[in-house]
Amino acid sequence: MKGVILAGGKGTRLLPLTLATNKHLLPVYDKPMIFYPLQTLKDAGIKDVLIIIDPENAGAFLRILGSGLEFGVNLTFRIQDSHVGFGIAGALSLAEDFCKNDCLAVILGDNIFEDSFKSAIADFEKKRNGSCVFLKKVPDPSRFGVAELNGEKVVSIEEKPKKPKSDFAVTGFYIYDNNVFDLIKKIKPSGRGELEITDVNKAYLANGSLAAKIVSGFWSDAGTIPSLQNASELVKGNAIKNKACSSC
Ligand code: DAU
Repeated sequence: MKGVILAGGKGTRLLPLTLATNKHLLPVYDKPMIFYPLQTLKDAGIKDVLIIIDPENAGAFLRILGSGLEFGVNLTFRIQDSHVGFGIAGALSLAEDFCKNDCLAVILGDNIFEDSFKSAIADFEKKRNGSCVFLKKVPDPSRFGVAELNGEKVVSIEEKPKKPKSDFAVTGFYIYDNNVFDLIKKIKPSGRGELEITDVNKAYLANGSLAAKIVSGFWSDAGTIPSLQNASELVKGNAIKNKACSSC
């Protein structure tokens, strides 16, 4: 299983913070944002990680992450040249050569998770086909991809619906088989002109090969000012909780 972190894009919802740097280099509590998705993949047991980055800030990514030696992972970087009309699925398509015939765990670079994905990845490794998305109940589902459930089964997914059919957001952690790259080639740009990851997930759903699991620990994206602040608070709270436990 390969790991892919998507850390390109413009970060326009964080302007003016992103005028001088890439969103994923901004601090979340006491670390650069990119450390968190990297730690999540590492904790899941993934050793080979590709990070998609923007050309303007490539040097800064290399400076803080290097080869990955200090993190105990092997890092590869790939530049996403153009963000316009590209979208998350377009950024993911850049990982095709890196993944060769392997399955992949994909994480959005602005997603902060408390949970470990180790057992979900071990489960997926047994069958090595289809896909798995991870859902979390949220108070503001219209900001996200939203999954409608029937029992434990996903019956529909919509990207940022005005009238969400549930309060289950599709988080930014996905496991895919290698077929994902062929599916991306078949999807068309959305109304906002982007190749949407939700359309990739919908293609798996249509094939009957989309599994879903619920995230139990905290989860936040960090792509807007309020969510960036929220992510910092959650990480800080967790750090304090862990410190308290280790001293008791
Ligand atoms: O956070 C979870 C949500 O992330 C999902 O519920 C949505 O279904 C999914 O579309 C996504 O929504 P956002 O609008 O929050 O995505 P955003 O444009 O902020 O992109 C998320 C990450 O993907 C971003 O941190 C960097 C990466 N990305 C994005 C784009 C558009 C790239 O690497 N290149 C890109 O061109």
